[in-house]
Amino acid sequence: MDDRRELPRKLAHEHLARGDATGWFEALYAEADGKEQVVPWADMQINPHFAAWLAAHPRPEAAKRALVIGCGLGDDAEALAAVGFQVVAFDVSPTAVAWCRDRFPASTVQYAVADLLKLPEDWIGRFELVLEIYTVQVLPVELRRQAFERMAQAVAADGTLLVIARGRDATDEPCNMPWPLLHDELKFIETCGLREVSFEDFLDQECPPVRRFRAEYRRPATITSAKS
Ligand SMILES: C[S@@+](CC[C@H](N)C(=O)[O-])C[C@H]1O[C@@H](n2cnc3c(N)ncnc32)[C@H](O)[C@@H]1O
Repeated sequence: MDDRRELPRKLAHEHLARGDATGWFEALYAEADGKEQVVPWADMQINPHFAAWLAAHPRPEAAKRALVIGCGLGDDAEALAAVGFQVVAFDVSPTAVAWCRDRFPASTVQYAVADLLKLPEDWIGRFELVLEIYTVQVLPVELRRQAFERMAQAVAADGTLLVIARGRDATDEPCNMPWPLLHDELKFIETCGLREVSFEDFLDQECPPVRRFRAEYRRPATITSAKS
C-alpha cells in the first residue's frame, strides 16, 4: 500500500508547495487514467466501517436525501442508493466524477463536480444524511474547520452527519499524507449546530491495524411553535 502512496504524496507535496490544497486529486485521477491500482483509496467496494454503520441503521421509509462528500469512485454513494436514498455524490476531481459515471451508467446517483470548501448554496440544509469518508484527512489542518463547517451546513433539520477518518492523539508523530485527525478537531463540528451522537475510536482489521474514528452527529429537529 505504501508504494501506492508515493505518487499521491509527490503530487500533494508539489501542489501544496504552491498553495493549491486540492489540485493534486485531479492530477492523480488523471494520471491513473482508469487504472484503480494507482489510486490508493480505490477499493472498488463499500467502505467496511460505513457498511457496518449502514447495516445497523434502518432503511429510510420515505425518500431521504443523502450527500456523499469526496465520493472518489462512487462505491459508498451506490450503496446508499441501493438502500433507497436519493443520493448526490460529489468530488473536486472531474476525472473521478466521470469515472463514477462510467462505472455506474444506470445509477440513480446524481454525480457532480464540486468543492466542499465552496459548497453550492442550494445544498445547504438539504440532506437527511451527509457522509464524509477520508476526505478531511487529506486536507491541510488549516482548512479543516472550513470543511467541517460546510459539511455541517448541508445537514437538514433532524439529519445526520457521519464522519469516518484515520485518528491520532496530539502526542503521536505527525505522518505523511494521509494526515489523521484529532478528536479535538472533530469537536469543532459541535460548534456548527450539530450534536455528537456517537464517537468510536478503534483499530481496523488492516495489517498492520490502522486507528480509525467513526463519529455521528445530528442536527436538532426544528421546533414547531405549540398551538395556543
Ligand atoms: C482519500 S479520498 C477518499 C475517497 C472516498 N471517500 C473513499 O473513501 O474511497 C478523498 C477524496 O476527496 C476528494 N476531495 C478532496 N478535497 C475535496 C474537496 N475540497 N471537495 C470535494 N472533494 C474533495 C478527492 O478528490 C478524493 O476523491
